[in-house]
Amino acid sequence: MMGKVTYTIFGGTGDLSFRKLIPAFFNIHASGELDFNIVVIGRRDYTTNDYCQLAYEWVVKHARYKVDEVNWQTFCQIIHYIQMDLDSAMDYQKLMDYYQVNNMNNHIYYFAVAPSYFGIISNHLVSVNATNQAKVVVEKPFGNDLEDAKRLYQQLIYHFGEDNVYYIDHYLGKEMVRNIMTIRFANPMFASVWNREYIDYVEINALETLGVETRGNYYDHVGALNDMVANHLFQILSIVAMEPLAQLTSEQLKVNQLNVLTQLKPVDTNDVNQSIVLGQYAGYRNEMHVNTNSLTETYAAVKLYIDNPRWKGVPFIIQTGKKLDRKQMEVIIHFKPVPGYGKANILVIKIAPNEGVYYQFNIKQPGNSDAIIQTSMDFCQSCQDVFRINTPAAYERLLLALANSDHAMFSDWRLIETSWIYMNQLKQAIAHNAQNLRIYPQGSNASFLNQSLFSE
Ligand code: BG6
Repeated sequence: MMGKVTYTIFGGTGDLSFRKLIPAFFNIHASGELDFNIVVIGRRDYTTNDYCQLAYEWVVKHARYKVDEVNWQTFCQIIHYIQMDLDSAMDYQKLMDYYQVNNMNNHIYYFAVAPSYFGIISNHLVSVNATNQAKVVVEKPFGNDLEDAKRLYQQLIYHFGEDNVYYIDHYLGKEMVRNIMTIRFANPMFASVWNREYIDYVEINALETLGVETRGNYYDHVGALNDMVANHLFQILSIVAMEPLAQLTSEQLKVNQLNVLTQLKPVDTNDVNQSIVLGQYAGYRNEMHVNTNSLTETYAAVKLYIDNPRWKGVPFIIQTGKKLDRKQMEVIIHFKPVPGYGKANILVIKIAPNEGVYYQFNIKQPGNSDAIIQTSMDFCQSCQDVFRINTPAAYERLLLALANSDHAMFSDWRLIETSWIYMNQLKQAIAHNAQNLRIYPQGSNASFLNQSLFSE
């Protein structure tokens, strides 16, 4: 992109902005990779100085560059806090005047707000002629359901043009998610056995220790299935399971991912208890902005099958949950054991908190015995400072990709639509079986919750 970029964050005082966006912007600023301004839009009556003070501790905690007096001062100079009522036409006119007075161009609008605001904000932006050539970034969940998502999609592409709408899924910016394809395709020892003949089952885990924190309002309407499974975990699943790319293009990648999602087998309504576990952590209903009778799931595990020759009969067990005993994001490939030759090989692609690759395999016990024992190779990428410093945080990478109009780093409407279709079916199967929500103690180990999915 030519010239100085202006990012405008609608929803700039929310958890996402403080926890992820502002620290990511700070990293970009500190690295000097881009010349940009950030216009932060919020309802509250803050000055830019107030906002900077609030943001400070989040940046110190989450940014990968050290905050010092000089870089903090210069960073605050590119932040512009503007108080706005998102429903007021007049306020959008004021925003335009602000852009003009400060000579702000090359606009990227970041919708870090509930999906019900996407339409409202874009209509107002159209009415003040602010959408021409501008890009817009939308956070998930994209819409409240499939119909809503389709409406939003039509509206956004009508106002901004298909090419200017970016669907962010920050897992696509994570170093080890980007590494899955390389590990899988660039190593013949894995590439050649990546199928039902050699793989017994696959686990995709996104376990968290955090609860809903201040996001009860959002989370209680969404739940773990729509917050994590339908987007982040489906992205990972589709990359792990897709066919090799005939061409290394973003379009081919999306098409291959899409094929996986369209080939997901519908969950059998008679088999829901063996396929899905939903839980809620004890105390969730007392969290801020959460309904005291809430039935929202904070834990979800789903056993899925992909109906194609590569994966027929291989379970993919996907699970995510809040307030568990540890943070662990990983993909685990469980290979089939070789009869009579020790235990199954296991490959773990570690996404967070550590980044790396672990491989467990069989060797002969050293010495006179011919017994078979297990050993492992454990590569910790994030343990090496040189990689830690050079690994951009996911949002940082995606914010830069936006400025460079790099669609490969983003999700795609076709993937979103297909995920909604699958999720609708899944939710109907759950409703049909009136499944019980399991209340689990905070700090639980996920394996206590998901046992039923591992029994054949
Ligand atoms: C977000 C979800 O998209 O991802 C959160 O809305 C979740 O509920 C978060 O905590 C996890 O992301 P990360 O990068 O911390 O693994």
